Amino acid sequence: MSDPWTPHLRAMQMHDLPAVLAIEETVFGDDAWPRSFFERDLANANSFYLALELTQTAANPAPAALIGYAGYWLLEEEANLMNIAIAPAWQGQGWGEYLLLETLARMAEKGAQLCTLEVRVGNLAAQALYHKLGFQVTGRRRRYYQNNGEDALLMACETLRRAPG
Ligand SMILES: CC(C)(COP(=O)(O)OP(=O)(O)OC[C@H]1O[C@@H](n2cnc3c(N)ncnc32)[C@H](O)[C@@H]1OP(=O)(O)O)[C@@H](O)C(=O)NCCC(=O)NCCS
Repeated sequence: MSDPWTPHLRAMQMHDLPAVLAIEETVFGDDAWPRSFFERDLANANSFYLALELTQTAANPAPAALIGYAGYWLLEEEANLMNIAIAPAWQGQGWGEYLLLETLARMAEKGAQLCTLEVRVGNLAAQALYHKLGFQVTGRRRRYYQNNGEDALLMACETLRRAPG
């Protein structure tokens, strides 16, 4: 992880949406969520979205920047990861792993025991991240993605209970 940057993870707000949508459109292209999907989820009591900002330090006097986000729906003891993304310029530096680990911990704090998700069969980078953090493939949905008919893998993992203290 890049040493000069300090991560700050907080609840996503409506005013974050321009920065979120810029990342969303860059990483997902024609499958990007429109603003209305984020607005719907931010207004829903069972949905939780986190924004990852990097803040400046004395060693790196650059302005704070929103570089990623993750969101999930909480359905009793199951949390369904709806979205996770890191801006391309910040990928490959450990921030996605940091964000997902923190998200799994926050799911556990809200009472979820299991995290489930769907991922494109062709999205090997995301699958590698999920496998690294302990997710296992639990199924497959044929032609799940409407934009190109790609299959989805269903994956699941226990949420992350932080050690007390
Ligand atoms: C998936 C994503 C969130 C990973 O974030 P990231 O910050 O680039 O990942 P990290 O640097 O934290 O990497 C953590 C692990 O993920 C895996 N990984 C990340 N990028 C990878 C790549 N390009 N190829 C293969 N494995 C990769 C590796 O296992 C890596 O661990 P390692 O460094 O020990 O090898 C990011 O690539 C992204 O935003 N992708 C576009 C959006 C997306 O596909 N979201 C998932 C939808 S289901």
